[in-house]
Amino acid sequence: GDVFTYDPGFVSTASSKSAITFIDGDQGVLLYRGYPIEQLATRCDFMEVCHLLLNGELPTPDQKQQFVQTIKNHTMLHEQLVKFFSGFRRDAHPMAVMVGVVGALSAFYHEAMDISDALHREQSAFRLIAKLPTITAMAYKYNIGQPFIYPRNDLDYTENFLHMMFATPAEKYEPNAVIARAMDRILILHADHEQNASTSTVRLAGSSGANPFACISAGIACLWGPAHGGANEACLNMLEEIGDISRINEYIKRAKDKNDPFRLMGFGHRVYKNFDPRANLMRETCHEVLNELGLHNDRLFKLALELERIALEDDYFISKKLYPNVDFYSGIVQRALGIPTSMFTSIFAMARTVGWVAQWNEMISDPEQKIGRPRQLYVGTPRRDVP
Ligand code: CMC
Repeated sequence: GDVFTYDPGFVSTASSKSAITFIDGDQGVLLYRGYPIEQLATRCDFMEVCHLLLNGELPTPDQKQQFVQTIKNHTMLHEQLVKFFSGFRRDAHPMAVMVGVVGALSAFYHEAMDISDALHREQSAFRLIAKLPTITAMAYKYNIGQPFIYPRNDLDYTENFLHMMFATPAEKYEPNAVIARAMDRILILHADHEQNASTSTVRLAGSSGANPFACISAGIACLWGPAHGGANEACLNMLEEIGDISRINEYIKRAKDKNDPFRLMGFGHRVYKNFDPRANLMRETCHEVLNELGLHNDRLFKLALELERIALEDDYFISKKLYPNVDFYSGIVQRALGIPTSMFTSIFAMARTVGWVAQWNEMISDPEQKIGRPRQLYVGTPRRDVP
């Protein structure tokens, strides 16, 4: 019969050609459209990075203004979709709500959607990027039982998100430049990461010609797991559980024990085998935010720094090339901003949406595009007859 390459976890299979993101895992290099993440994180804002990922180039000032305005035109959710939230138990995990509500967008934008038309594809990208912060903030408000806060288009993308998260009918949200900048950096660092599990999920779902809103919902479902986007939540829970510097060694011991399923959350990466450049930028932001908020003695931050130090001196982590990844510090930053742990992965999803739609669009426009259809090695019972 046919012979197939067996590659569990796709560790050595390139699923696609892509011109969006480049990673060199040995050197700790991450480029979006050729630009190093360090430069993008310090010199650009998230809207500029979105334009770059979608269109291949950073915007001129005119293009930026137009792009920002287009996104603002789409920040509202259809009122019928707003009602959708109340179908969920109020204690539902926000990621469950995100999977459902983003998937439901496909019902609102399907009839008029022709994915072979580049303008329609662009339109769905704008809608997704614009509506994800609204949906994310509503998932939060629903969870804590507060009324939804509608978008304010006089604010920029990130400030508007913080407004929808933290304003109440009784109290205005006061923007703080350091906090908004930190949130913007979180969005930039999570915006794309080539063919990771959730992006591959979006591409595979989209390869059948499915509705893009449904495909992004599939990506959100994949992101939820603790080995992927759920790691930021799992990492903060782990730091809380360790609780004290004196207990670090006990947890390091458990992480090294083959018979214990425990792993150091926020450590290790399939591709980065030297350092994760996003983790360095996140650590820096962590310092900035904690200083700004007068939290430099933050218990969990000290614990995280010490855990990192001890792990990086340990033969187990050195020999397996396990380094802190972006999610090791992002949880501490978000917690300092007042974001509850259960929202971390939803915010990751909101940031990654631009990457997902850029990758989906690239795939659909590729003349070599085919439906994704892996094969298998069959290991079941050979042919037999029913007695
Ligand atoms: N703690 C302890 N041991 C680990 C860890 C860890 N965090 N990560 C990997 N290992 C060990 C693993 O047990 C294995 O050992 P051995 O070779 O003896 O069997 C070896 O290192 C290789 O691990 P693997 O699971 O084969 O590697 P992978 O490339 O399949 O997994 C990973 C990568 C990120 C899923 C994994 O490192 C992990 O589970 N890390 C913790 C979760 C995490 O932080 N995920 C976020 C990733 S970055 C953001 C994102 O992608 O969403």
